[in-house]
Amino acid sequence: MQVIRSIRELQARADTERAAGRRLALVPTMGALHAGHVSLIEVAREHADQVWVSIFVNPTQFDAPADLEAYPRTWESDLEACRAAGVAVVFAPVAREMYPEGADTAVEVGELSKPLCGAARAGHFRGVTTVVTKLLLAAKPHAAVFGQKDFQQLAVIRRMVRDLNLDVEIIGGPTVREADGLALSSRNRRLDPEARRQALVLSRALDSAEDAVAAGERDGERLLALVREEIAKAPRARIDYAELRDPDSLARAPGLLKEPTLLALAVFLDPTPVEPPAGEGVRLIDNRVLHPHA
Ligand code: PAJ
Repeated sequence: MQVIRSIRELQARADTERAAGRRLALVPTMGALHAGHVSLIEVAREHADQVWVSIFVNPTQFDAPADLEAYPRTWESDLEACRAAGVAVVFAPVAREMYPEGADTAVEVGELSKPLCGAARAGHFRGVTTVVTKLLLAAKPHAAVFGQKDFQQLAVIRRMVRDLNLDVEIIGGPTVREADGLALSSRNRRLDPEARRQALVLSRALDSAEDAVAAGERDGERLLALVREEIAKAPRARIDYAELRDPDSLARAPGLLKEPTLLALAVFLDPTPVEPPAGEGVRLIDNRVLHPHA
């Protein structure tokens, strides 16, 4: 496994592999790798001869400097996880390599970046789409894999690749969960045992909406009421958003569900018994596509 820190060097390696006829798949990450990331590496392997992973904590997608600082960095175990998963190249640039002095260009997807996580986190998706574009141009992969856990991120990236005619296949990987249902996230490690227990209300809320749809419920407001009821069972949880949206356009879903509909959820959890100021705490997201005709 080769660790590459320079864009030029990465591009040269990509050219060599491509000239030899090998297919490359990139899994972009911010490190702190867990089984969810590893599952994307496995998905990538099904689509390529070589899997490359990028590890870069991208400063431009964090709206709060404290959040960037608090982001976990676990370099040694990340490398070990990549090695064990058979990754060929780890691209780990420093911030100055990705954003040299005077860097003044951004990539922005319009409407899809606005609702849900875009509404609460100004400039977040602009940072994501800018860095993903740069990573794709640096690694020149045939395919790139992103998790469905970050549903809106995947939708925004698909739209960007389509709109800019980028020559790369975007692949979505399913959400990996703990045995009890909590979606894996690098943020979970910030929760104390009680907050960790209460974090289960996210997946339970999605389950209850899914069960209701299976039992014939089609009324969006009633489904969202079920979700709120479930989240209210956790005293340390506060809803950031709970919304029903079209899975492709992310437009608001009609009042009565007829088509497959995204149920997207973001919840703040107080990580410890001392309640943090409003709007702070550990923000967890999860989602489910509801199928009214399944
Ligand atoms: P990061 O949060 O490190 O996530 C890297 C990839 O892992 C993303 O595609 C994310 O959707 C996926 N992922 C996270 N948790 C997952 C889980 N439980 N199951 C399956 N996949 C999961 O997302 C980012 O980094 C950044 O925004 C990035 C795209 C790298 C741009 O900086």
